[in-house]
Amino acid sequence: MIQALNSANSVSGAVRLPGDKSISHRYALLGAIAEGTSVIDHFAASRDCHSTLECLRTLGVDVREAGETVTIRGRGLRGLHVPGRVLDAGNSGTTIRLLSGILAGHPFESVITGDSSLSGRPMARIIQPLREMGAVLESRERGLPPLKIRGGVLRGMRYRLPVPSAQVKSCVLLAGLYADKPTAVEETIPTRDHTEIALKEFGGTLHVEGNWIEVDPEPVLKARHLAVPGDLSGAAFFLAAAAIVPESDLRIPGAGLNRRRRELLDYLLEAGLNLEIEKETEEAGEPRGDLRVRHSPALLERRLPAIRGSLAAALIDEIPVLAVLGAQAGGLEISDARELRVKETDRISALAANLRAMGAGVEEKPDGLVICGGRHLHGADIDTRGDHRIAMAFAVAALSARGETRIHDAECADVSFPGFWAALRNAIKR
Ligand code: S3P
Repeated sequence: MIQALNSANSVSGAVRLPGDKSISHRYALLGAIAEGTSVIDHFAASRDCHSTLECLRTLGVDVREAGETVTIRGRGLRGLHVPGRVLDAGNSGTTIRLLSGILAGHPFESVITGDSSLSGRPMARIIQPLREMGAVLESRERGLPPLKIRGGVLRGMRYRLPVPSAQVKSCVLLAGLYADKPTAVEETIPTRDHTEIALKEFGGTLHVEGNWIEVDPEPVLKARHLAVPGDLSGAAFFLAAAAIVPESDLRIPGAGLNRRRRELLDYLLEAGLNLEIEKETEEAGEPRGDLRVRHSPALLERRLPAIRGSLAAALIDEIPVLAVLGAQAGGLEISDARELRVKETDRISALAANLRAMGAGVEEKPDGLVICGGRHLHGADIDTRGDHRIAMAFAVAALSARGETRIHDAECADVSFPGFWAALRNAIKR
């Protein structure tokens, strides 16, 4: 499907966010290994989170969906069934990496695979620690999926994360639930802590000391009734759109404001975004609040603050839209973001090619981009490479470009934000 977009005069009204993708995955997985029936409201409608639900069904879990509410009859810590077929994680790195941690604790063989994008993404980062804990894993060459996993009782260990990755951290912590003694993970660069928060909510025990996060094994996890906050990474596209389009005034209620994710808001405020955060509350350890964003001329006049070091890890999912914003503001330099090369697609290369197609000056580096600002972008054909965040980022670019922009394979936005195109068209005023 091609989405054709032109410049807009205003992005206004209200946007309803889908449930947070990261949190939905975790609630579903923990609900499946808890005792009792969990009810999850505002569960992400995203294709990725449905991959997690389908895998759980294949593992014998009774999962029911009614609108945005998902009900999961937990099977207890070791109650998953031998799967009758290959588990399909689709496009979802979170599904394959987190579920592998749980499968490593089950004494049967399972095979987990994904689509062509996921089949090219690195899994050595989870294979190595899970093997160290005693699970038996096989993969294709160079640690690529499919993964064959045979688990059992694992050995607790202390593990230093070689890459800043919430997925790897979460995989090891979940495997730690099945170990003979506590398992600890060290992260020198902080990443999203939804697994730690959710584990505590379901009754797990964690100890945090400095950079070390330790989980106790063999908890009795208890079912919960939880509501997922709105996906702040999805909100990022609308924040950027309102910032660049004149006369914009947009409300985004119920956005997740987890301390590790809201670094995006701190960054944008520092950059000059006209943003108000209202009605902050917290539920099940996850803060949330309403956002109001308006056209932000101050942000557009300047170079955006450089993204490097721990900020690159904190903003990893938002870099595509921030790169677009940088091209429309006074430029942006991104470093230490090599991880972008192994996301749903090589996002550094996809950003450079598509920004150039729209007339921006871009230099590609191994670990980032140097984006020149101050050039008026023009419409172009955007090759999304099937990557949801590339598609949505260039939808934002289209709103202030001269002429028509055609976004190819635009349906890939469903991976994290079903309804994105309708929500955008609804907010655009011409
Ligand atoms: C996620 C962690 C991040 C992020 C992804 C979701 C998670 O990946 O990019 O969209 O839910 O844990 P990495 O852990 O590979 O950095």
